Amino acid sequence: TYEIILMLILAYLLGSIPSGVWIGKLFFNIDIRRHGSGNIGTTNTYRVLGPIAGSIVMIMDISKGVVATLLPTFFGNHSLTPLIFGLMAILGHTFSIFDKFKGGKAVAVSAGMLLAYQPILFIIALSMWLLLIFVSSTVSFASIVAFIIITIVIYFTHDILLSILASALTIFIIYRHWPNIIRMLHGTENNVVWFILLVL
Ligand code: G3P
Repeated sequence: TYEIILMLILAYLLGSIPSGVWIGKLFFNIDIRRHGSGNIGTTNTYRVLGPIAGSIVMIMDISKGVVATLLPTFFGNHSLTPLIFGLMAILGHTFSIFDKFKGGKAVAVSAGMLLAYQPILFIIALSMWLLLIFVSSTVSFASIVAFIIITIVIYFTHDILLSILASALTIFIIYRHWPNIIRMLHGTENNVVWFILLVL
């Protein structure tokens, strides 16, 4: 039980690492929270600091979800579902102890949890996301719709815990993307045609 509490704290701290903020400050002397959408995630890092920084932040944020979810495997402790540790990383990312309990929109870190827990579902979600970016040129739209679709897919796997978590995360992600939704409705959301070229 000590071990479990320690792992939960570790997962939260790992998730708390604000990759985008730190990469921006360390290598560019820029606070990405003051530029673009103000978000600390992959999309805004691409937008403000370019493709290399954006890719690094994407890898780091996905890795946070992967490593946290695999913690019980690393420690040989299987008494709790790995999803709990993934969730702690998501909470860390969105309510970061290193960022005054603010944080990101939870897209990449949730994807990382899914990658560690059920890689096939991750591949489906990632494919949907890329396809949606391709057709809409809008990452926020792709993130929201990909979450809704993958949650529906998850229902069919009959994994009840994952279904509950995916539903809650989808609601949370819509809430965190509210400013994006307002911008989409006003036709002022940032389009990212060049983003596709980089990914492909
Ligand atoms: O992953 C976040 C993405 O869906 C939207 O990012 O910076 O356009 O708000 P942003």
